[in-house]
Amino acid sequence: MNRLFNVTNKDYHKVISILGIKIKIRDSAKEINTQLKSISSKLNKYNLNTERIINKLYSEGKISKFEQSRDPAKGYIKYLETHITDHCNLNCTYCCHYCNVTEKKFINVEDFRRDIKELSRKFDIKLIRLMGGEPLLHPEVHKFIYITKEYFPNSEIMLVTNGILLAEASEEFWKAVRDTNIKIDMSKYPGVDKKFGEALDAIGKNTNHQLGWIWIASKFSKSMTFEPVNNIQETFDKCPYKRCVNLINGKLTHCPTAGYMKNYNKYFNENLPEEEGIDIYTHSAQEIMEYLRAPIPTCAHCLPKDKTKWVEWAGSTKDKYAWFVDK
Ligand SMILES: C[S@@+](CC[C@H](N)C(=O)[O-])C[C@H]1O[C@@H](n2cnc3c(N)ncnc32)[C@H](O)[C@@H]1O
Ligand code: SF4
Ligand code: SF4
Repeated sequence: MNRLFNVTNKDYHKVISILGIKIKIRDSAKEINTQLKSISSKLNKYNLNTERIINKLYSEGKISKFEQSRDPAKGYIKYLETHITDHCNLNCTYCCHYCNVTEKKFINVEDFRRDIKELSRKFDIKLIRLMGGEPLLHPEVHKFIYITKEYFPNSEIMLVTNGILLAEASEEFWKAVRDTNIKIDMSKYPGVDKKFGEALDAIGKNTNHQLGWIWIASKFSKSMTFEPVNNIQETFDKCPYKRCVNLINGKLTHCPTAGYMKNYNKYFNENLPEEEGIDIYTHSAQEIMEYLRAPIPTCAHCLPKDKTKWVEWAGSTKDKYAWFVDK
C-alpha cells in the first residue's frame, strides 16, 4: 500500500505529498489548512479530514507541534529574541547587542509578562530565544522561563548563555528548565574552557538532554560601516539578520543592531540611527508585520552578508570604532 504522507525539505519549503497531491508549505500552518481545504473533496473520498491528516503528520514527527497548533487568525514571527538583562559578565569586542558598553539593567519581570502576554494575543512565534547580555545574571531568570512557556506553550524556547554562571545556577533555575522543557544554547568563547566544561556537565546533570545549539564563538562578524554608505533597500534585501526580531520594552525592532544602537550612542555620545521599534500595544499584527518587512535608516550602516568580515574574537577595549569596517 502507498504511504499516505511524505514530507521532504526542498529549497526550504516542506513538500507534503498526500495521495499523490503535492502541497508546498512555507512556514505556515495557515497554508496547510488552506491547501487542505481546497482539496478536501478529494480527501473526503478517502474518508480523511484535515484534522486527521495534521494529527497523523504530527504523530509521525513530520510537522512540529507548533505547526500543528498555529492559529491562522494571528500574525506570525519565525524568530524572536529578547533580553533578560542588558549587561554582561563578558566583554566581547563587536558584540552585536553592544552589551560590552551597556549599563547594568535587569528587565522587570512584570513588564516582561505584560509584553509577552500582548505578543501572544497577536502572534504565533516559532522560536523564542531568551538572552541578553548574560541572562544568568538575572536573579529571577527562572520566572522569565515560566512566563515565556505560559504564553507560548507550543513555541520552541531557548535560553542563550555564555555558560560562565551555569555550573553555579540555582535549583530554581534548573527546575524551570526541566518543567518547561526549554533548551539551553551555549556560546563557547576563547579562554572559558574550564567553565564551559563545567557548564556542559551541569546541563547533563540537571536536565533531560536539554542542550540546544553550541555556537563556537572564536570568530565574530563585523558588518557595519560608520558612515551611511549603503543603499538601505539593497542592504535590507540581502540582510541575514532582518528576521532577527527583538522585543525591547514593549516594542519590536528588526534586529539587535538597530534596536540597541541607543546603547552604543549613549556610551560614545554618538548619533547613529537608532530604531525605536513598533509598539506592540497600539498596532495590529498586520501593521507590525508590514513595518518589519520594510528597511530602516540603520540599514545604511550595514554591509551585505558577502562583505561581512569575520575576525578573531577579542576582549573589548571599548574602542568606539571597533564595530565598523570603514574605520
Ligand atoms: C548577544 S549574545 C547574548 C547571550 C550570551 N551572552 C552569549 O554570548 O551567548 C547572543 C549571541 O550573539 C553572538 N554574537 C554577538 N556578537 C556577535 C558578532 N559580532 N558576531 C557573531 N556573533 C555574535 C554571541 O556569540 C552569542 O552566540
Ligand atoms: S556576545 Fe554575549 S558574552 Fe559577549 S559581550 Fe555580548 S552578550 Fe556578553
Ligand atoms: S539594520 Fe537593517 S541591514 Fe542592518 S541588521 Fe538590521 S535589518 Fe539588517
